[in-house]
Amino acid sequence: MGSQVTLTTLYKMKEKGEKIVALTAYDYPFAKMVDESGVHMILVGDSVGMVVQGESSTLPVTMDEMIYHTRIVSKAAGHAMIVGDMPFMSYQASIEHAIANAGRFLKEAGAAAVKLEGGRAVSETIKAISGAGIPVQAHIGLTPQSVHQMGGYRVQRNEEQLMADALEIESAGAFSVVLEGIPSEISEKITKALAIPTIGIGAGPHCDGQILVLHDLLGLNDRHLPKFVKQYANLLDDAKTGIKQYIEEVQAGKFPAKKHCY
Ligand code: KIV
Repeated sequence: MGSQVTLTTLYKMKEKGEKIVALTAYDYPFAKMVDESGVHMILVGDSVGMVVQGESSTLPVTMDEMIYHTRIVSKAAGHAMIVGDMPFMSYQASIEHAIANAGRFLKEAGAAAVKLEGGRAVSETIKAISGAGIPVQAHIGLTPQSVHQMGGYRVQRNEEQLMADALEIESAGAFSVVLEGIPSEISEKITKALAIPTIGIGAGPHCDGQILVLHDLLGLNDRHLPKFVKQYANLLDDAKTGIKQYIEEVQAGKFPAKKHCY
């Protein structure tokens, strides 16, 4: 599968036109599965709020929760780069607060980088965090932490604004950028304009890499899936089948059988 993925690996992949494959993970067993499958980057996303905690947005997720999830994911990773997602209000209030919180992901949780949402509005923050030696991945387009400001989870189509955001966050020192909910033609132009890798989600095929929420890809939740998701497995149904069989066997006195007894 190869050695540990670093920033150099990602830059070389962009240069050679090799696609970067990223997924989210939130705990040890799933992170191990993702890492051993050969994914290049694991994002411990604040989507944990919606996927694992049952919240209706990512806004309630706290720094301590993100540190916990990132720490248990990091233990599983031997190959993939681990990126910790900075939760809502962990980097907006002041640059000092943002640097301190970003540092916790590396110091306490074993991440190699952090991600934060926003374009030009957070470029000074990106500059300061990367200036402190912490690699920063930016995230523009549909930024879920701004759901109320965007008036819902809406595709972002303002090419001029998106390009200006992308160019400025690159100048500020971001090592990569997630493009979410952006028409393919705009993502293609941004990907060509930037030297840093673009990782798309709902942003078409021209990005340097792709990311999906793991639980969506595996069919592990029954929430409404956005158009951009492809479900590659149906683990929810498989799991329910197994659990129902267990219930039937316990009630019928078939489990535990002799071989399960001391
Ligand atoms: O929180 C998350 O999982 C994300 C990805 C969907 C990019 O930000």
